[in-house]
Amino acid sequence: MMMKEIDICSGQEIISRVVFGGGDCGDGLPACTLAEYLKPYPEVFTVIDANVAEKSPAASSVCAMLKERNIQLYAVEATEQSKNMETVLAICSWLMDCNAGRDALVLAIGGGITTDMAGFAASVYKRGVRFAYIPTTLLAQVDASVGGKTGVNFEQYKNMLGVIRQPEFTYVDIRLLGSLPYRDFLSGAAEMLKTFIIEDNGNYAGAVGMLKELHSSALQLCGNRDGALGQLTLSEVMMKAEAEWGMLSHLVAESIKVKAGVVSRDQFEGGERRKLNLGHTFAHAIETLARRQGDDLTHGEAVAVGIVMAARLAGLCPDIAPLHDCALAARLEADFMACGLPVKCPYDIPGMAEVMSKDKKAEGGKVHFVLPCAVGDVGIVDLSVAEACAMLNN
Ligand code: GLY
Repeated sequence: MMMKEIDICSGQEIISRVVFGGGDCGDGLPACTLAEYLKPYPEVFTVIDANVAEKSPAASSVCAMLKERNIQLYAVEATEQSKNMETVLAICSWLMDCNAGRDALVLAIGGGITTDMAGFAASVYKRGVRFAYIPTTLLAQVDASVGGKTGVNFEQYKNMLGVIRQPEFTYVDIRLLGSLPYRDFLSGAAEMLKTFIIEDNGNYAGAVGMLKELHSSALQLCGNRDGALGQLTLSEVMMKAEAEWGMLSHLVAESIKVKAGVVSRDQFEGGERRKLNLGHTFAHAIETLARRQGDDLTHGEAVAVGIVMAARLAGLCPDIAPLHDCALAARLEADFMACGLPVKCPYDIPGMAEVMSKDKKAEGGKVHFVLPCAVGDVGIVDLSVAEACAMLNN
């Protein structure tokens, strides 16, 4: 039977797969069960976000299936503070205690923090054992769990230690998102919109259309109080909006397809993969300043602001401005706001510049700025932080 799968390749070789479970993926192909995907692996060890099993009925039914098969589970705290080598070493110690051999498959269930740490632990344990992911957030489904980036935070830097190594498979089941807080869903939605700005195929407008409907339903549900959005779950908002899970599933698959294509052409980020960092140079600085000042901001919210800043910079940068749609920044701003995402940078440009100049991705004083020319068309321009910030400050 033909299953819904997206391959990630290196040349002609398939190096990883994204597989879709749990129902209709919008194109009529049947879903495959997780149990079938696990069949070829003689020994499976599960690392799970401690919060996931109790909060998500769909994840707890996955756990019940694993327990029935005598698959052992190890729970980790999945926070930015615990995303460190200590947790990776704890996972390795647990694998040793379980006598996990070279044939082991480490199965990570959770958001991007859990998949990044478990993937890294599996990559170094006994010089590397196989691993697979079940992402339980939209952010992890469309971004973190696809493409092979693993790692942990080190000193003050995010994801400073890690390797690029591909999971055997990533199992995407849209039902796992039902209990996700709506604000976390929106955070992943920002990464999905980012992907469609890189490569559109008509999906950007479809995604914005769906997210606008969801946002107005979410506001109705919480009496127009933005601050209360976090208390809603995606299921509640989908139900109120009478939105179709099949449509969301289709958009998730389309977004993954774009990322899988980019990674297949440039696994180790020597060129094209840099495009996936659209909005992230600004977003990382915004997140650092938010942490310092105790401000509450999700990754996707910072990315949304970062994309709008990148679109403004594209209009100001002589290398790219002639190719740039001058209405783009305003269009993205209007779209993101209607979807419930922020667009204004809460920090001043000099403060941002100080943080961005320490970005680990700066090479020889230059940063690869990913600048959108239009929806579906982005370029990369190497600029110093000082050059970029001077343009934005004028
Ligand atoms: N999150 C960007 C990448 O995977 O390359």
